[in-house]
Amino acid sequence: MIVSGSTSQAVSAALAARLDVPLAAVEYREFPDGELLASVPGFDGERAVVVVSTTTSDAHLEVLQLQDAVREAGASEVVTVLPYFGYARQDRAFKPGQPVSARAVARAISSGTDRVVTVNPHEDHVAGYFDVPCTIVDAGGRLATALPDDLMDPLFVSPDEGAIDIASTVRAGYGAGETDFFEKTRDVDTGETSIAPSDTAVVDRDVVVVDDIVATGGTMAESVDIVRAGGANRVFAACVHPLLAGTAHVRLARAGVEAVYATDTIERAVSSVSVAPVLAPEL
Ligand code: R5P
Repeated sequence: MIVSGSTSQAVSAALAARLDVPLAAVEYREFPDGELLASVPGFDGERAVVVVSTTTSDAHLEVLQLQDAVREAGASEVVTVLPYFGYARQDRAFKPGQPVSARAVARAISSGTDRVVTVNPHEDHVAGYFDVPCTIVDAGGRLATALPDDLMDPLFVSPDEGAIDIASTVRAGYGAGETDFFEKTRDVDTGETSIAPSDTAVVDRDVVVVDDIVATGGTMAESVDIVRAGGANRVFAACVHPLLAGTAHVRLARAGVEAVYATDTIERAVSSVSVAPVLAPEL
């Protein structure tokens, strides 16, 4: 039985349909004091697949409650799917005194599940922070299915070397074009980033800037500025996780992005690509 968190209803429904298993009825409540209560009143399955993108602190709590609810109702096995694993970017203590937040939340999530499946975490090593087996799924190839099929001499470029694997997967899925990456550096004290272009010519080419996450949109917008300044033809943004916080979408549009393609690991208006086909085989 698929048990959906409030942040992952579309992908949960798609998984239930694809796997031909029931989709549990769920209830999410908030008490006047701010405490949450997520429950699964009709749970009668022996095996529970709890699907929650932990995009907020509340969602982290929700996954713990749903895991506990199905265990309480007699689940024989609990599989936890984190289409988006929040806090994964805090994968180390960057300064003395900081927590390894990814490890802290992974440990908490591990306490209520037999295993975990997640999609393109920022760094793969966070899988090792779970106390139970964690499988990583790559949804990059799915993004290729959404792109226009008439891209001209396409270049798939990532803002930093860390996202080159996803850009390569998108290119492979598209079946044509080149792959490249820029150099992004971050000041540890201020958090300010800057991006240096590569030598690859973009004049008159269609460019797809590919990243794992678009959060504030700053990284993507700066990358788009670079390729537009280099004379690119059409410019598209593609990402697995469209956090799109605050005015991110406006920033991308103002930078000159023709369209944003993203998956439904985070449910936003641009989440046109389902990750259900790559998650289902792991379930
Ligand atoms: C970091 O290296 C990630 O791959 C993304 O580039 C980053 O998280 C995007 O954040 P923002 O949209 O706030 O620039």
